[in-house]
Amino acid sequence: MTVLLDPAQHGPGRHHRSLRAAAVRVLLGNWTGNATVPSRSLYPHQWSWDSAFIAIGLRHLSPRRAQRELESLLSAQWADGRVPHIVFNPAVPCGAYFPSPDFWRSSTAGRPAGAPSAPETSGIVQPPVHALAAWLVHRADPAESGRRRFLARLHPGLDAWHRYLTAHRDLGGRGLAAIVHPWEPGLDNSPAWDTALRRVPPAPAGSFRRADLDHSAASDRPTDLDYARYVRLAADYRDAGYDDARARFAFAVEDPGFNALLIASEYALADIAEAIGADPAPARARAVRRTAALTDRLWDEERGIFTARDLHDDRLVPVRGVGGLLPLMVPGLPRRITDALLRTAAGDHFRLGEVHMVPSYDLTGPEFDPSRYWRGPSWFNTAWLIHRGLLACGAVDEADRLREGILRDAGATGFAEYVDPHNGAGRGIRDFSWTAGLALDLLCGHPERAR
Ligand code: DGY
Repeated sequence: MTVLLDPAQHGPGRHHRSLRAAAVRVLLGNWTGNATVPSRSLYPHQWSWDSAFIAIGLRHLSPRRAQRELESLLSAQWADGRVPHIVFNPAVPCGAYFPSPDFWRSSTAGRPAGAPSAPETSGIVQPPVHALAAWLVHRADPAESGRRRFLARLHPGLDAWHRYLTAHRDLGGRGLAAIVHPWEPGLDNSPAWDTALRRVPPAPAGSFRRADLDHSAASDRPTDLDYARYVRLAADYRDAGYDDARARFAFAVEDPGFNALLIASEYALADIAEAIGADPAPARARAVRRTAALTDRLWDEERGIFTARDLHDDRLVPVRGVGGLLPLMVPGLPRRITDALLRTAAGDHFRLGEVHMVPSYDLTGPEFDPSRYWRGPSWFNTAWLIHRGLLACGAVDEADRLREGILRDAGATGFAEYVDPHNGAGRGIRDFSWTAGLALDLLCGHPERAR
């Protein structure tokens, strides 16, 4: 049963204690024995960046379980290094989620690219937050981590993952990883993808059945037309054998959020390497090079935010989205850029500190919709990432206010998937795992503090 908590009624101390217990209940309820489903209804398999955020929460509950969360995800890694965005649970009926395993056909269509023969997976990826998560999980209990050789066992897979993104996904040839499907940055239907997506011919109506609308209101989810384009892009990639050199990408974008998370994870990978006696220099060098490319390619001086670059016309997309604020987490950006990002976050477009958490898209933008997936609502994972970024930039008061806001919204909505930024009303599904995991993390503090 979803529990709703109100700090005004419970008082902050009791609110936090009840919130902790409720978050633990969600995480235990969504654990499958090997991994955690984002949601029992809408997302009944294992998702890549969800598992990273979930592990960050689980580390406070059971460091060993947090380790297993990441280990099970990486056990489905492809030989080319990619970490697939979904690992399918064979025990779940095929029709419970679409696109299902028989759509992706990883074990056959993905074989030449190195997909495992089992389990079935999708063929696209999600943001590389995993090295960061692995490092945080290790820090929660270094003794247990050392006993299980957690870092030593994970390091080769994490290193291969980052190398895949560097070697296979630098489609623009300028040092940034490109995304080839709007689901890859995790911000599925952000207005930042609209122009690029419009070039994609939709899959024929009636050629597939959406399962997401069985669980969520249609007004909260991407439109049918967007969905038909997602399906077409995924089918084309599959039909090219998921081969990045052979595929003709109708959608190819350099996204600031995806690359910022890769940079943060490269630094974490360097820390991991150092901890196990391996060489941290290659990961650090990649982080530094990518930071220069990020600033060079995606900084939009006029808008005071990072924006995506569409590789079809090599132009910046003039859309302010939450992904453009995530470089707040990137160490070593010029101070004038972080200052401009802080001003943008506090200004009319995101109104940090005045609205609920951080809107996924410009509050003044023509496409703003407070309910529809990534076209306006505030999400808990991006708020958690920005909280880290604020701490890293020394904006401690703003970070503390955001933390309190995240905890209030998580409790008041029963761990909703996301919320309306204006009134905090919960949207999407409830008992969402990363909402519970990240609330738990904020409740337990950051022993390691951001860099
Ligand atoms: C979906 O199915 O809506 C997901 O966000 C893509 O993984």
